[in-house]
Amino acid sequence: MKVAVVGATGMVGNVMLQVLAERNFPITELLLVASERSVGKQLAYKGKDYTIIGLQDAVNAKPDIALFSAGGATSELWAPKFAEVGCTVVDNSSAWRMDATKKLVVPEINGNVLTKEDKIIANPNCSTIQLVMALAPLHKKYTMKRVVISTYQSVSGTGVKAVQQLENEIQGIKGEMAYHYPISRNAIPQCDVFLENGYTKEEMKLVKEPKKILGDDSFSVTATAVRIPTAGGHSEAVNVQFENDFDLADVRKLLSETPGVIVQDNLDTNTYPMPIYAHNKDEVFVGRIRRDESQPNTLNMWIVADNLRKGAATNTIQIGEYLIENGLV
Ligand SMILES: NC(=O)c1ccc[n+]([C@@H]2O[C@H](COP(=O)([O-])OP(=O)(O)OC[C@H]3O[C@@H](n4cnc5c(N)ncnc54)[C@H](OP(=O)(O)O)[C@@H]3O)[C@@H](O)[C@H]2O)c1
Repeated sequence: MKVAVVGATGMVGNVMLQVLAERNFPITELLLVASERSVGKQLAYKGKDYTIIGLQDAVNAKPDIALFSAGGATSELWAPKFAEVGCTVVDNSSAWRMDATKKLVVPEINGNVLTKEDKIIANPNCSTIQLVMALAPLHKKYTMKRVVISTYQSVSGTGVKAVQQLENEIQGIKGEMAYHYPISRNAIPQCDVFLENGYTKEEMKLVKEPKKILGDDSFSVTATAVRIPTAGGHSEAVNVQFENDFDLADVRKLLSETPGVIVQDNLDTNTYPMPIYAHNKDEVFVGRIRRDESQPNTLNMWIVADNLRKGAATNTIQIGEYLIENGLV
């Protein structure tokens, strides 16, 4: 496969290169693409140096697959140009996620919706991916009625600039701000911009994307997304009300049998998921599984994943692997 990584110099792009190498993705030719600012710079992949090229040069090279993580505006403008030359684009931005003509895919859940005709495929938002990985098997068995999510999201979810802001603040250096406020020793109840309904864009992604991925809009979702000063890894406190009652032991068994999900839930040993343990892992970790005693058929749980891995790079690459394994590219 001739593979282009668009946004190769970014937070997600960097992890993308790491995951491509780890999984031995079948690359015959690699094109590393970024903005004009980076064209000509060198980046290493599997010990070999590659020169960063611009978007037009990448289109001209007609890659088989392009893995995009260069922001929504770049995707909107350039993904169609890659698709036009026969390339299949897997896009990490929010540009195409809710477009009715594009698939929104977590391979373990709905990889089967993909066809050869899909030339632009959307990768869900990081906080959505870890959420649906845990919700999908439970929804199948108990049928969700309502989900309430509170997120505790790391600065790496905002990109390089935000990681630098946190580093600067810890070291007492004055620098560029990615957020309106200091993030060190703080919790900012705003992830992304506010919309007319008073929710942030991130919160509305959590409301809309799970329905599209699960192919079901019969359940309702509400969310509060908060940025906290963790370097990497998003956490979510999730309350789910089901149509049907459940047994807690069955819930734990079901989740622990779900590929890509690991249950970390032992109160005797203070075992529960945390960002420091999810770091650099591809799995989604679930713990603090308990009954909501305030109303029937309702579960509380705590979900953690590395937002740059399963939340972005790994899921994108898994989509690429699915396309190759199923002869769709
Ligand atoms: N961070 C996460 O957890 C996460 C999770 C899921 C999805 N995403 C999405 O992935 C995308 C990238 O996020 P990130 O965190 O990696 O951001 P980032 O660290 O700021 O990196 C942005 C990347 O995009 C490139 N880029 C920016 N403008 C460009 C342009 N006009 N043409 C070509 N390349 C351009 C940058 O190249 P230069 O270095 O040359 O500027 C850089 O490689 C965003 O759409 C984001 O929403 C991020």
